[in-house]
Amino acid sequence: MRIQNQMIKTVHPGGHNHEMAPIENPWTSMEEMLIVLSVISSFESPTVLELGTQIGTTSVNIGRVLSKIGGRLLTLDVTNAADTMPTSQVTEVPDAQTAGSLITYEPERVQDCIDFQLFDARLPDGSGMTPILDTFTKAHGDFDVVFFDGDHSFDGLNRDASLVAPYLSFDGVRLYHDVWWDCTPPPVDGPIRYLGGGNGEFAINVINLTHVGTDAGSVQRMRERGL
Ligand SMILES: C[S@@+](CC[C@H](N)C(=O)[O-])C[C@H]1O[C@@H](n2cnc3c(N)ncnc32)[C@H](O)[C@@H]1O
Repeated sequence: MRIQNQMIKTVHPGGHNHEMAPIENPWTSMEEMLIVLSVISSFESPTVLELGTQIGTTSVNIGRVLSKIGGRLLTLDVTNAADTMPTSQVTEVPDAQTAGSLITYEPERVQDCIDFQLFDARLPDGSGMTPILDTFTKAHGDFDVVFFDGDHSFDGLNRDASLVAPYLSFDGVRLYHDVWWDCTPPPVDGPIRYLGGGNGEFAINVINLTHVGTDAGSVQRMRERGL
């Protein structure tokens, strides 16, 4: 509890001001949220990319921090599921009205730090997310922090992470959410397979953001299943 209070003070300069306190959703624990926010607040005026806005819970928390320390958040979502998306994730895709809707309730100074964009992941020519993200990263990088919380399939994450990698700042940090889910068998395995790719690059600047402290046993279960 002491650690958590200390982190709250660190990550939101408003101290215990209610208006600045991080908000929660059922999928992202407060511990995870605080890790994301403390990484972001370790940069001066960072450029942050979030893949997977959904209704905007984490976007709002990031925006609140950025409204105090400077910087901007680019957050993306899709209007429909790409072919790569795991079936278990398809129901997460928000409709156009609810996507990013929490952001609109924030004060102007917070909204000003957030650039929310919604894309059609199924372009008629079938090219989908690749050209979208390619154009987007070229236009808006370099990124200091990237929060990968979009497509959790191996192919989807591999695509998104490869497109973003060249646009990471020198000391940039990548955070991966839902490396496994808190149930057995887990409905997605993309991020954990991706991180286990064994090319060594993950040793330096990646924080393996999993369900911190909520279900340590699931790591063992994943290993037992050879994932
Ligand atoms: C787990 S939710 C995101 C939760 C949100 N980051 C939060 O913390 O509140 C996953 C979201 O990713 C979106 N998504 C799926 N594939 C994506 C992609 N390739 N790029 C960006 N967003 C994607 C889905 O539509 C869904 O809204």
